[in-house]
Amino acid sequence: MAKVKSKYVCQNCGYESAGYLGKCPDCGAWSSFTEEVSVTDKPITEVLPDKKPPMKLSEIEMNTEIRTKTNISEFDRVLGGGIVQGSLVLIAGDPGIGKSTILLQVSGKLCKEGKKILYVSAEESASQIKLRAERLGVKADNLYIYPQTNFELIKKHIEEMQPDLVIVDSIQAIYTNMIQSSAGSVSQIRECCNFLMGISKTNNISIIVIGHVTKEGNIAGPKVLEHMVDTVIQFEGDKCNSYRILRSIKNRFGNTSEVGIFEMGANGLTEIINPSQAFLKEYKSTQTPGSTIIVTNEGTRPLLVEIQALVGTTPYPTPRRVANGVDLSRILQILAVLEKRIGLNLSKQDVYVNVIGGIDINEPAADLGIALAIITCVRDVVADYQTAIVGEIGLSGEIRGVSHIEKRIIEAQKLGFKKIIIPDSNEVSTEIKGIEIIKVKKIIEAITKALSN
Ligand code: TYD
Ligand code: MG
Repeated sequence: MAKVKSKYVCQNCGYESAGYLGKCPDCGAWSSFTEEVSVTDKPITEVLPDKKPPMKLSEIEMNTEIRTKTNISEFDRVLGGGIVQGSLVLIAGDPGIGKSTILLQVSGKLCKEGKKILYVSAEESASQIKLRAERLGVKADNLYIYPQTNFELIKKHIEEMQPDLVIVDSIQAIYTNMIQSSAGSVSQIRECCNFLMGISKTNNISIIVIGHVTKEGNIAGPKVLEHMVDTVIQFEGDKCNSYRILRSIKNRFGNTSEVGIFEMGANGLTEIINPSQAFLKEYKSTQTPGSTIIVTNEGTRPLLVEIQALVGTTPYPTPRRVANGVDLSRILQILAVLEKRIGLNLSKQDVYVNVIGGIDINEPAADLGIALAIITCVRDVVADYQTAIVGEIGLSGEIRGVSHIEKRIIEAQKLGFKKIIIPDSNEVSTEIKGIEIIKVKKIIEAITKALSN
């Protein structure tokens, strides 16, 4: 007989409890528990058939993975060279960022290669998809649109059709009959994702699942999704800005932190083949105090980005520190070092730091560029616009080495920079022509070098 079980689940992190809790002991969220009822037919103690006993590593046969290229090179790059057959990929991002758009474009490209695609639309009607497809110029005979939210029906059609790729838009909108809770709850999401994983592995079909992100920036409902799928791709970008960044944050078949850069236009997303150039488009014309160029490393690719800082006397009792595109704690650390090591007094100053282009920089190699942007703003001087800056700042004010220095120097040289300031400890083995390499040990040295034209 079916067994009915009731439990309370945190809708933020998936923590389960037998009774209601006001605060989640796992993630600390308040009032996040809801009751969920599950119906199971199988006793928990059931012994599963043991099809595959443990094997010796040497006896295991290697299957080479088969990848399908979408011919959208930035998309392929993020996946590590195309969609791996039989993999489950999660694309997560804010609502309205362009997830449905990119996947419809990917579907269009794959259909041209003769692939059969099932696009399960759980949020929009078929005519809405058709309208978008018209706008994007996607014409494909092999693209099947299926507006459906019920998992069992979706499963039936996947198994009947045996498509090459299934797109589920979105995981928060589908539900399975196996669980009583409503679509979008943690249990529904987890169960549906689990079932989709089973379908993709048993039928060797690639499945791309769309997931929304919560206000706090987590993949809604919740971290459990990230653990289950093969690849997690985050779609980032500022909605006010046309640049969109695809970033792989987990990949069982390739590099993580690889990025693909796109621009959203009237006809969908277009790839940006030379992102540094795109990000620096307005740089020379806006040369002002408080602006520097850094070379950050995104996955396997160096990227030149402008950092802007604004420092001004605060009208508030506590000065404000605002960071856009960089971690705030990193900024606080840099400010502490600047106060202690070069005597910059910022205790009555508001500090704003902004990364141009809506991209997020997560590596410490941007420290020196950020520090110099702040210093040039405080002193009201302009940094040499032909100098790029790379380096991590240590707590004693020393400039520490960074990874992939040669790639960064070459990228700066390609974009016409005449000088690059790098950490003294970084060895540059190959001869790089056309750019002067300036090595610095301390912040104070970097300041004089960045200001001398
Ligand atoms: P969409 O793909 O629907 O976002 P998501 O699925 O992530 O919620 O994209 C929605 C936004 O993109 C919407 O605000 C309109 C804009 N857009 C364009 O600017 N150009 C286009 O060609 C398309 C299709 C959408
Ligand atoms: Mg959508």
